[in-house]
Amino acid sequence: MLKKVSGLKKPLKGEITIPSDKSISHRAVMFSSIAEGECIVRNFSSGADCHSTLNLFKQLGVNIDFIDDKTLKISSVGKLKKSDTPLDNGNSGTTMRLVSGILAGQNFDSVLIGDESLSKRPMKRVIEPLTLMGGEIKSVDGHAPLTIHGRSLRGITYTSKLASAQVKSCILLAGLNAEGETTFTEPYTSRDHTERLFEYLDADIKINGTSVTVKPSKLSAKDIEVVGDISSAAFFIVAGLIVKGSDFIIKNVGINPNRSGIIDVVRRMGGGVNIQNERVVAGEPCADIRVQYNDSLNGCVIEGSDIPRLIDELPVIAVLASQAEGEIIVRNAEDLRNKESDRIKCLVEELTKIGINIRETTDGFIVSGKRELNGNATLESYHDHRLAMSFYIAGLVCKNEIAINGFEWTKISFPEFEELMFKLTTLNL
Ligand code: S3P
Repeated sequence: MLKKVSGLKKPLKGEITIPSDKSISHRAVMFSSIAEGECIVRNFSSGADCHSTLNLFKQLGVNIDFIDDKTLKISSVGKLKKSDTPLDNGNSGTTMRLVSGILAGQNFDSVLIGDESLSKRPMKRVIEPLTLMGGEIKSVDGHAPLTIHGRSLRGITYTSKLASAQVKSCILLAGLNAEGETTFTEPYTSRDHTERLFEYLDADIKINGTSVTVKPSKLSAKDIEVVGDISSAAFFIVAGLIVKGSDFIIKNVGINPNRSGIIDVVRRMGGGVNIQNERVVAGEPCADIRVQYNDSLNGCVIEGSDIPRLIDELPVIAVLASQAEGEIIVRNAEDLRNKESDRIKCLVEELTKIGINIRETTDGFIVSGKRELNGNATLESYHDHRLAMSFYIAGLVCKNEIAINGFEWTKISFPEFEELMFKLTTLNL
């Protein structure tokens, strides 16, 4: 689908409620499916990725029913059943990597498949530690399809070179069902939704700096309310900062410190975001965010421990950088090349077309602002939801219309994206 976006002639105003967090929605379904008992999951994501997780656990014998479009009733006997057909993970890397940790220790075999993009993404990062735990997983040179031969697992002490919540969560999930304890250490703390939900669901877990240890435990079935997704809110935060005169509120945004790197970066750049009404929901901090236009943003360096805290927001941060004075330098983000697309290469190629001064480096990119963006180009989304939405935000400040090819991919995480954008423009009298 080709989406045309024209420069916005008026500010964004009003109030929106940001939909459910994708990372937490996945975990809510997975963890409730392996717990014994019944629970309600509220504010479940409507994105296609989370529906891949939901359908996969139904296929593994868990009863999951929609009470309404965002509320699930999950009842599980605490044991999964073998599926005679392959389990389809769609486009979702989180599903495939976390589910591998759950299925490696079952007493049955499973086959995990994914779409074309997921089948190109690296799975060795989970296969290697799972193999050290005694797991047996066959892949096609480190890629899906994965054939998981369920085995009894043993706990390990594992140090990962990468700060990755998907790898960490995979190993912690395997550790729940292994003999002895499992410790996972990463260079910086990646998003800790698994740890928070494990604690909430009574797992035996200990956190020590960047190390997490789990002992074999049964999770309790408890109701879970999912907060709004800061990665979705990021598109609106950037839009508000760069569309002249904007001033609006984004409600119910998860502000877990391991996810909210974008807020720190915006502040470092001198931008106006105001956190209001802070609260905690199912172990996750959450708040309303007021965003205001700022015409004097400055450059900054984003590196090291910043990266896992804003990895998914880097494409839209590149758009923000094009409207700031000076340079934004992003380093240590090489894993961006392993996302739904090579987000370094694709971002640089496409943003250059509309007049953004962006250079590719091996582990990131450098944007030199401040530029008037010409637009007048068709941008390829490479089947990548976050690129498609980032380009839309860039289109709002272009002089001429742009077109985005493959805009339907936004359904992977944020089907409500355009409707909420319209709300901030049309309520604006
Ligand atoms: C996720 C972790 C991150 C992130 C992805 C979701 C998660 O991936 O990019 O969108 O829910 O655990 P990595 O763990 O590969 O960095």
